[in-house]
Amino acid sequence: MPAVDPRRFLRPDADRLPRYAPVKPLAALAEEIGVPVAELVKLDANENPYAAPPAVRDAIAAADPRIYPDPDQTALRAAIAAWLGVSPAQVAAGAGADDLIDIVLRLASPRAVASATPTFGMYGFLAAVAGARHVEAPRGAGHALDLAGLRGAVADGAGVVFVASPNNPTGNASSLDEIEALCALEALVVVDEAYAEFAGVSAVPLLERHGNLVILRTFSKWAGLAGLRVGYAVAHAGLVERMMAIKQPYNVNVAGDAAARAALDHRDELFASVRAIVAERERMAAAVGALGWLTPHPSDANFALFDVHGADAAAVAAGLRRRGVLVRRYDRPDLAGKLRISAGRPRDTDRLLAALREVAP
Ligand SMILES: Cc1ncc(COP(=O)(O)O)c(C=O)c1O
Repeated sequence: MPAVDPRRFLRPDADRLPRYAPVKPLAALAEEIGVPVAELVKLDANENPYAAPPAVRDAIAAADPRIYPDPDQTALRAAIAAWLGVSPAQVAAGAGADDLIDIVLRLASPRAVASATPTFGMYGFLAAVAGARHVEAPRGAGHALDLAGLRGAVADGAGVVFVASPNNPTGNASSLDEIEALCALEALVVVDEAYAEFAGVSAVPLLERHGNLVILRTFSKWAGLAGLRVGYAVAHAGLVERMMAIKQPYNVNVAGDAAARAALDHRDELFASVRAIVAERERMAAAVGALGWLTPHPSDANFALFDVHGADAAAVAAGLRRRGVLVRRYDRPDLAGKLRISAGRPRDTDRLLAALREVAP
């Protein structure tokens, strides 16, 4: 080791910055558990288990990796805008919705960020990296937004409010009335619609009336392109212009760009898998609930959150894992005793049910 410790050149809080805890890669998990990758039932990251349509795979294969992508994302933004009925000037794409969260935070540079918890961990994580305080406004009964709590967070200095709708991990969507009420706040209101295609509702029509509304969407979930990292923001053209100005120029790679456009061209096929996943979520939630020791929360997304009764949720997740079935558990006190399970294919649900019967308390 050289004598000079380079960490002294870093920002003063570098040692205290959080580390995001992502799901492990499949190959590493398969090795740890001792089963082949093909035998794992991956219900821990809300991915889409169905293979992309051939046209999407062909578009990926035809992308030319030698050439930098279009930094203006001209074709992709036009295709997304045509789909949503907005102007291309209102759309900015990135390396997943995660990239857009980061871009918004770098651009707004708020003293504090508010979110309605429990929710997606990226808001608090990227707020900390951006040097902003994270104010949590806990959700109330039925995981509904606490509008007064969020209003208080803005009064307390939060310049950006994040609300996921449908929310991860609780599964419930907020009403458009609630989102409109949020838009009256003196802050940027970021509505993360990563799961909107499963819910069939969107706040995009509210953009006409609210200049402080930013909607985040992604191709990771409905279009099954999580590995290619394509997400986007839809917002006021003046804000989007600034987002486009400060983003990494090549944040959407050529394969992701081509795949996302092909997905939009073939969305009828993809929406058939969205409908299959929603139907399977209902079957999975009912069948798991019928086991008698797990209670599902209602969900508008491609997963459901369950209360575990009579057993330790972490032990249940570990028992399932030993059987090759991966689900999501949490260390947060407000999610103690809960498991989030993604909706998979019918055969994934069957494996889940068999494993749950074996680990039953
Ligand atoms: C609410 C929410 N937003 C965003 C994301 C990340 O989306 P992307 O893959 O587009 O970065 C997730 C992924 O789990 C999510 O749950």
